[in-house]
Amino acid sequence: MLPQKILMCKPEYFDVTYYGNEFMKDNIGKVDKAESMKQWTGLKEIYGSLGYEVALIPPAEGLVDMVFTANQSLPFLDEHGSKNVILSKMKNEQRQSEVKFFREFYGNLGYKIHELPDNVKYFESMGDCVIDFDRNILFGGHGFRTDEITYDYIAEYTNFNIVKLKLINPFLYHLDTCLSVLNKDTAVIAEDAFDTQSLATLKSYFQNIIIADTQENLKYFVCNCHCPDGKNVIVQSGSVKFKEDIKKSGFNLIETETAEFIKSGGSVFCMKLMLY
Ligand code: ARG
Repeated sequence: MLPQKILMCKPEYFDVTYYGNEFMKDNIGKVDKAESMKQWTGLKEIYGSLGYEVALIPPAEGLVDMVFTANQSLPFLDEHGSKNVILSKMKNEQRQSEVKFFREFYGNLGYKIHELPDNVKYFESMGDCVIDFDRNILFGGHGFRTDEITYDYIAEYTNFNIVKLKLINPFLYHLDTCLSVLNKDTAVIAEDAFDTQSLATLKSYFQNIIIADTQENLKYFVCNCHCPDGKNVIVQSGSVKFKEDIKKSGFNLIETETAEFIKSGGSVFCMKLMLY
């Protein structure tokens, strides 16, 4: 079942204050706060206009990346339809205290909470897990922000069929920066993100593959688009090739502005979580 709610976090404290990925490196201190608030509100309104209820987790002072709600948790339904969640272990120290706020949030909603054992060092949830809900497949990236071993535990806790993919490009450090699953047939893929075997495996799952242009993906984060319903594709505005490809494949394109967040290495997909 496709999750029907969206979880976002107001970018009250959003900033780029440290070098946490290749995009942040040259953008320390360069965030326009008012503009980021405007862009975030614009995205929130798009979800509202598509009929989604947008839940909000309160932002915490000093946690500059908390706005990227894809990364702290992986919510799922178990075989009885009960709500469960796996909590992340954030790689960068600057993000580690975000998780306790999510633990509290899910606790209040009555979710069953799974904590990963000590031998898992890193796991960044929906940053590295891209799910095909129609086929119950979880594509799991590893290499930068998530340990490969995490997927052994995800296989234990959930009933997803897991396809592990090795990431090799530091600019495409989360799976959601190089793969978007639009529906069971269609995926957007950045080929330069994966090792040879992972790329071949990934491609074997889709009939219709939209290849992201390398430069367009770095500039507009096209692989970080989000298709919440198999029909509408929300993406940073400005792409040319991607826009054409998406329309040719029969999707409705919704462009929005997320440039302030791209300075931190994230765009549409990272700024929300789909929730039950
Ligand atoms: N500055 C954040 C970080 O490096 C960006 C996270 C982007 N999120 C994503 N799902 N790709 O952690």
